[in-house]
Amino acid sequence: VEGGDIAILDGTNTRSSRRRAIEQQLKEHMDRQFKLIWIESICTLEEVIEKNILKTKVTSPDYKNWQDSEKAADDFRNRIKEYEKIYESLSKTRDGEEASFIQIINQGTQIVMRNVRGYIESKILSYLINLHTGDRPIYFTRHGESEYNKRGLIGGDSCLSKMGSKYAERLGDFFKKESIGWKEFRERPLIYCSTMKRAIQTAELLSFINTPLVMKSLDEINCGIRDGLTYEEIKENYPNEHQERNKDKLHYRYPRGESYMDVIQRIEPMIYELERRRGPVIIVGHQGMIRCLYGYFACVPIENIPTLDIPIHTVIKFVPEAYGFCEERFAIDPLSGTISKIDSTVIGKYPDQLSYVPK
Ligand code: F6P
Repeated sequence: VEGGDIAILDGTNTRSSRRRAIEQQLKEHMDRQFKLIWIESICTLEEVIEKNILKTKVTSPDYKNWQDSEKAADDFRNRIKEYEKIYESLSKTRDGEEASFIQIINQGTQIVMRNVRGYIESKILSYLINLHTGDRPIYFTRHGESEYNKRGLIGGDSCLSKMGSKYAERLGDFFKKESIGWKEFRERPLIYCSTMKRAIQTAELLSFINTPLVMKSLDEINCGIRDGLTYEEIKENYPNEHQERNKDKLHYRYPRGESYMDVIQRIEPMIYELERRRGPVIIVGHQGMIRCLYGYFACVPIENIPTLDIPIHTVIKFVPEAYGFCEERFAIDPLSGTISKIDSTVIGKYPDQLSYVPK
């Protein structure tokens, strides 16, 4: 652990004696100052517990060799009962006068906290408040082809090309069909787009779903004084900048513009918003900015975010899950309207990172 880092020790630390032992171990082995916060998720909702057992527990490594999933589920139900017998809730008296903790009760319906102060601590708290494990799809799409795209220029605020406008229409058709499956969600679908013309023009054709919400935080990476050039022009006229960017695309900042790190910081409020939502959300954005949002949800190592493949005229349907995600990609041909599902083996780039479950 480096200074300023956050480490997560995941476990069922049901008893205060065990928690105290962990704290003691940390004190003995950590060679720097640290602050310990206990986070407890308490759930008394039978329906949620059952769903969690069936969806995430019986498929976990613990039950890898169990043929009968019903037996595995029963075993886990018994495990809960055993834990209940020895369970000791976090408390000031049991865990110590100074103990810091956050208890999230029934998926954030209620929060109990103690000794949680400071910038990072408050951020952890507000992040946790917004998390839930309910299923809901997040759709990512770049705007349709723009006049700048056609000419190979980066940045700018150009309008959609003819082809791009066609894509926007086809996108409307795609979501007409897709929205038939949204009745189960208790929250209305939302559409977010950037403040750029090409994104607004694409999102406008989805107004039959909901009025698009225009967000500055979703704007494309700002190319600063290189805005409006082609990649070739940059390479030819500013070879050092071209090289610098190739060497470290994540940290490279365009003069008077942004780096990918800047964009990752800028989209943070949108991440909270997407985590919080319980209904479908459609994001109409841009290549660079979608790389950052997608990268967060798909747990892509940060250095790989700037080179993620986010093709134009493609919808990424992404469903976050408790220990992974489901993803489908649909390439939409603006001219013919043909929708082709992209082979999941092409997109499952980081299967070791988490339990990626392509449909
Ligand atoms: O070319 C489209 C675009 O959205 C540009 O506006 C933007 O500069 C670029 O993609 C971001 O991609 P990269 O970081 O790979 O240059």
